[in-house]
Amino acid sequence: MKKLSIIFLSALTMILFTACGGSAEKTSAPEKTSEPEKPADKILVAYFSCTGHTKTAAMEVAELLKAETFEIVPAQAYTPADLDYNIEDCRANLEQKDSAARPAIKSKLENPSQYKTIVLAFPIWWGAEPRIIDTFVESYDLAGKTIVPVCTSGGSDIQASVNNLRELCKGATVTGGKRLGITSKDDVKAWLDSLKL
Ligand SMILES: Cc1cc2nc3c(=O)[nH]c(=O)nc-3n(C[C@H](O)[C@H](O)[C@H](O)COP(=O)(O)O)c2cc1C
Repeated sequence: MKKLSIIFLSALTMILFTACGGSAEKTSAPEKTSEPEKPADKILVAYFSCTGHTKTAAMEVAELLKAETFEIVPAQAYTPADLDYNIEDCRANLEQKDSAARPAIKSKLENPSQYKTIVLAFPIWWGAEPRIIDTFVESYDLAGKTIVPVCTSGGSDIQASVNNLRELCKGATVTGGKRLGITSKDDVKAWLDSLKL
């Protein structure tokens, strides 16, 4: 009798379970639609800075854009004597006089393809970007990327550098540039917003 009751109860439970639609398939989590692979759309702020002004400006831009940062570190560090532009043949002056100079960079950017936009921050040396910036842009395939030049300087503007970068960054779109460190954060934000990166 006890055995019969157990069989009866088990059968009843199964009928109720089926009637309530309690199959494993029907209660499983909603099927995930497989997302198409996300295109590379990250923003990188790559900066070169010897005495810290450009680094400060670059960090502000990175914060505003929620971007990753990469420091362009020279393989051979610039000493104060290397940067003393009053000495005609100091290292920085010699490099700037030689359009073919390409000072080596210590390390390479990992997985550059993940960045759609690269903000390039540098100090102005003799009216233009330091040659190490040329080394950087020639080290990668920048086709299809957007390059945003920004600088700090003692007063010179960025236009000559923008023109040079448009020549060097093959297949990339080089936006207008901006001299930083002289305007408010709000102004920098408004300019970045206007680029619609
Ligand atoms: C070799 C050298 C050349 C420079 N040439 C210029 C220049 O042509 N025009 C200018 O306004 N400032 C010039 N400067 C000043 C730097 O652009 C300025 O101090 C910059 O903010 C330094 O950036 P950093 O602190 O990130 O290295 C020069 C500085 C150096 C070291």
